[in-house]
Amino acid sequence: MAVRVLFPTLVHEARLPPAQGRALNRRLLVECLQYREDDAAGQAWSATRYPGGYTSYGSLNRMHELSPTFAALERALHRHVRAFARRLALDLEGRELAVTDCWINVMPKGVVHGLHLHPLSTISGTYYVRTPRGTPGIKFEDPRLDRYMAAPPRRLDCRPELQPWFTVPAEAGKLVLFESWLRHEVPPNPVEAERVSISFNYNWF
Ligand SMILES: [Fe+2]
Repeated sequence: MAVRVLFPTLVHEARLPPAQGRALNRRLLVECLQYREDDAAGQAWSATRYPGGYTSYGSLNRMHELSPTFAALERALHRHVRAFARRLALDLEGRELAVTDCWINVMPKGVVHGLHLHPLSTISGTYYVRTPRGTPGIKFEDPRLDRYMAAPPRRLDCRPELQPWFTVPAEAGKLVLFESWLRHEVPPNPVEAERVSISFNYNWF
């Protein structure tokens, strides 16, 4: 007797080497907070689409081209993206996955990032710069959830891969990669301290 696991949803988690992560995060944090102060277009964009928080998604969304620090982060991410693509068995036909967007997110207390996916991309992800204790992780939704109309709920203690939602904790120095079609959200930040992260998209060229 056997039970097959079919149609898995893969999420890649990795950590930069501690010394590299700490050094990079010190510089990234200074820049993220400075851009929040200086980026008037981003402040305006965030006021309606990310109330209470700051994101450069609508203004400075190619940070890897603006800042050598973000470019260093991109270099550190690259091997993980390639490894994840191999693990997914993507046949890239000799073409490259290249970063198309890279942006800042600063999430103060009470700010939420609702359920969404990343259109026009292949692999997306987030790298965590500052994650004070108690700040939320990234919550993924089972992509088949809309087929479950009459299905019984699953036990709360079921294996992680059977749960309809799964939260990957946010930790400074950690990287989370997923296929861009996978819906996810960041629940409200319940703590006073700000959570700072950098998100990115890779597309297939
Ligand atoms: Fe996202």
